[in-house]
Amino acid sequence: MDIRVTLSEALRAKPQDESKLGFGSIFTDHMFLMDYEAGEGWKDARIVPYGDFHLDPAAMVLHYGQAIFEGTKCYRRADGGLQLFRPEANFARMTRSAERLGMPALDEKTALEGLKKLLEIEKDWVPHQDGTSLYIRPTMIALDAQLGVHAAHHYLFYIILSPVGSYYKEGLKPVSIYVEDEYVRAVRGGVGFTKCAGNYAASILAGEVAAKKGYSQVLWLDGVEQKYVEEVGSMNMMFAYGNKIVTPALNGSILPGITRDSIITVARAMGYEVVEERLAIADIFADAKSGKLTEAFGTGTAAVISPVGTLAWKDEILTVGDGNIGPVAQRLYDTLTGIQYGRIADDHGWVTKLS
Ligand code: COI
Repeated sequence: MDIRVTLSEALRAKPQDESKLGFGSIFTDHMFLMDYEAGEGWKDARIVPYGDFHLDPAAMVLHYGQAIFEGTKCYRRADGGLQLFRPEANFARMTRSAERLGMPALDEKTALEGLKKLLEIEKDWVPHQDGTSLYIRPTMIALDAQLGVHAAHHYLFYIILSPVGSYYKEGLKPVSIYVEDEYVRAVRGGVGFTKCAGNYAASILAGEVAAKKGYSQVLWLDGVEQKYVEEVGSMNMMFAYGNKIVTPALNGSILPGITRDSIITVARAMGYEVVEERLAIADIFADAKSGKLTEAFGTGTAAVISPVGTLAWKDEILTVGDGNIGPVAQRLYDTLTGIQYGRIADDHGWVTKLS
């Protein structure tokens, strides 16, 4: 598909101090858009100046929540060149999310071409400082102005870009997590495995309550018995027992994280034993108290690898480790980011060099 380009005449100022970037509040000068019409498919791929959309107040996304998104990043290597990490996996996951929400499969080829062309235009927005990147947010929404509940016929796919630093203010310092035992995020047969906006909406109240108690994030338990560890909304969870890493098995209500998958692969290649299984939160607490559990950390595109220093569940507050990132999480962080930033050879075919 041809991609039409209209360049902005008023470029924004780029952030001066990259150490203050934070996450997701600054956007670049342009965005990629493509429309879908039932019977015709995806069409009118275009790059235009970043700006507001026209949305009918009856647009189905606003009422029935057909909204899915992805998160991936563009990294700057030390030689100044740019590279992507597994963007095809994000677009493939978007198609899986779309299928579950009754939305059309993404034209993954045009989405990837559009992303590359957008990055060619926005290359100077990719930050330089260690640990920073250009976050990529592909999104698909239903447009029809229609209040009947059924699949829409018109959709918009778009990609916006945001220069980012750490997702958590703690950076690589351990975060504190509240184990949620009242609300649930997802149940088997639902949409927990998709990256749909509703999963995040369902998490916001618990996140606010946890934040008031001083915790950074909520750890979700399974939606039926509230006994088994699921995920932390913004990241999948991993637990280290010395050289063994245990992570909840994908069960239909957990997001199949691309960072999760990459860490499992990298960890196995480094000689760690990695086990995917159902993990009872009571066992995690017992193992941490007995000293068998040595580290806990989350994995995600935005979060990268984020060590967990405190876990609170019911009346118990558990300290994992000594307030610093543990050796397993540190080695995995160094290896994953080494591949992403081009410091370490990519033996897995994950990296797409753009320049
Ligand atoms: C990502 O890691 O890319 C996500 O989409 C998680 C989001 C909560 C920032």
